[in-house]
Formats: sequence, C-alpha cells, structure tokens
Amino acid sequence: MKKYILDCVVVANIPLNKRYFLLRVSHPSPFPRMLPGQFVELRVDNSSDVLLRRPISIHDMNYETNEMDLLVQIVGAGTLKMSELKKGDLLNMIAPLGNSFSMPTIDMKHVLLVGGGVGVAPLLLLGRVLQQYSCKVSFLLGARTASDLVQLDSFSQYGEVYLTTEDATVGEKGFVTNHSLLKNKVFDKIYTCGPTPMMKAISAYAKTNNIECEVSLENTMACGFGVCLCCVTDTTEGHKCVCTEGPVFNLTTLKW
Ligand SMILES: Cc1cc2nc3c(=O)[nH]c(=O)nc-3n(C[C@H](O)[C@H](O)[C@H](O)COP(=O)(O)OP(=O)(O)OC[C@H]3O[C@@H](n4cnc5c(N)ncnc54)[C@H](O)[C@@H]3O)c2cc1C
Ligand code: FES
Repeated sequence: MKKYILDCVVVANIPLNKRYFLLRVSHPSPFPRMLPGQFVELRVDNSSDVLLRRPISIHDMNYETNEMDLLVQIVGAGTLKMSELKKGDLLNMIAPLGNSFSMPTIDMKHVLLVGGGVGVAPLLLLGRVLQQYSCKVSFLLGARTASDLVQLDSFSQYGEVYLTTEDATVGEKGFVTNHSLLKNKVFDKIYTCGPTPMMKAISAYAKTNNIECEVSLENTMACGFGVCLCCVTDTTEGHKCVCTEGPVFNLTTLKW
C-alpha cells in the first residue's frame, strides 16, 4: 500500500482524562483509504530529545469531513509533547502503515473485539468497518478504573459494549479474561489489542475454544516501515517485522 508523508492540521485536541487525549486532525487533500489495524508514525516537533517518530493506531476515520482521530495515552516525552498540540498546529505523519485486521467470512455470525488500556484504539475503526458485514459485533473493554474507559459512546454505535475494571468502578471486577461473557456466549472470531498478558490470555481462550483470533502487537518501533528491524518478532513462519508484516497477526502464526 502506498505510504504518504502528510502535514496534517490539528482540528481538536480533547483531553479525555488525566492521561488520555483524542487528537482530531485534517489534511488539505483527501486522506488516502486507511484500514482498521493500520497505524501512523507521528513526528514530534519542537522537542530537543524526541528524535524518532512515534507509532499511533488509527482510531477512527471520517472521510466526509476528511478527519482522522487518534487516541493517545501519555507515557513519555513524545506523547506528552503531542498532548500539548493546539487547534491549527501542524502534525506531520507517515501513513498508512502496517497490515490490517482481516474481515470476517460470511459464515461468521458473532465477532468479539477485546481491548485493554489504550489498546482499544484500533478497535473503533474496526467496529465501524464491521458494520458493513452481517455479523453481530461485541466489544469487551477493560481498564484499571472507570475513568480509563474512554470513547464508550463511540464504541456503542457499532455493537454491544461489555466492561471490566480492576477496581470494580464500572462493569465486572477483574480482567477482561474473567468476564462472564466469555463463559456464556459463543464467538466465531476474536480480534484483540492491548497489554501482552491480556492478549496472551485471550489467545489461550481462543485456542481452547477453537476460535479464530487476530492479535495486534505493539512492539517498540523506530522507522515504522521495515528498515531498522527493531520491531522483529519470531513467528512460526520465521522472523517478521511487526511494522510491515504486522501489527496484526493471526494467532496461529505467533509462538504463544
Ligand atoms: C503499532 C503501534 C500502535 C500503537 N498505537 C497506539 C495508540 O493508538 N495510542 C497510544 O497511546 N499508544 C500507541 N502505541 C504505543 C505508543 O507508540 C508509545 O506509547 C509511544 O511511542 C511512547 O512514546 P513516548 O515518547 O511518549 O514514550 P517513551 O519515552 O518512548 O517511552 C515511555 C514509556 O513507554 C513505554 N513504551 C514505549 N513504546 C511503547 C510501545 N510501543 N508499547 C508500549 N509501551 C511503550 C516505554 O517502554 C517507556 O516505559 C502504539 C504502538 C505501536 C507499535
Ligand atoms: S520499526 Fe523499523 S523495521 Fe519495524
């Protein structure tokens, strides 16, 4: 897929809680088609210590308004600098990067999208695209506490939303893997993104129940387009660059 270097303009920077914010950006020309699961590499301007671009998932696309949404968690210098962007500022990105989630086959009746922490980010665009398919969509989203569960109204536009929090402030107490939904319902496919232990536990559930599962890895990245090899992961098909041959992998190819 052709990649572009785009000078985007910040339309809005909306704080969602103390650590999460939603960046809405636009571009003078129409955005190229972005697929669910793909990401962008953002240049962090006006910083003396952030040299490399930062990979961020495409959270949502609105082609009518030509706007892209990015859901970002502040974890270090780069994301902190991004949180200071204001309406009208420029944000340079390389996009679209990586492969994408594959779409359900016609016989799949019910798919489950499982996200933890900021790993929920790519699942919104996936939910939006899955609307075009006849399958039922459910989201199972987990976080430490209620205020870390963001964008719930947006998710609920595309399917049923089930929640867990570690402190029981909303939804069922514990981790997503403990949710009663997994005991009561049968799914034809699972898509997951979030902390590795969560994705491993969901993968184990998928394996045990013989459910097809796609996992989006968030390995540390530098270039984002296959040059530096810092994101390589070992798979059943040999070493693969997560930035170009991922970030989405079918569970059967991962050595989990
Ligand atoms: C394909 C992909 C998609 C991503 N999508 C999103 C997204 O939609 N929203 C979002 O907020 N973040 C996302 N991330 C993670 C994001 O790229 C990192 O949090 C960010 O690069 C950290 O930059 P920083 O300068 O703020 O922190 P740094 O100073 O670089 O690091 C601060 C801390 O964060 C940890 N960290 C750095 N990179 C990662 C990473 N890739 N995964 C987990 N921890 C990391 C470091 O180990 C360190 O402890 C994604 C990562 C990848 C690879
Ligand atoms: S991040 Fe450079 S090769 Fe993947």
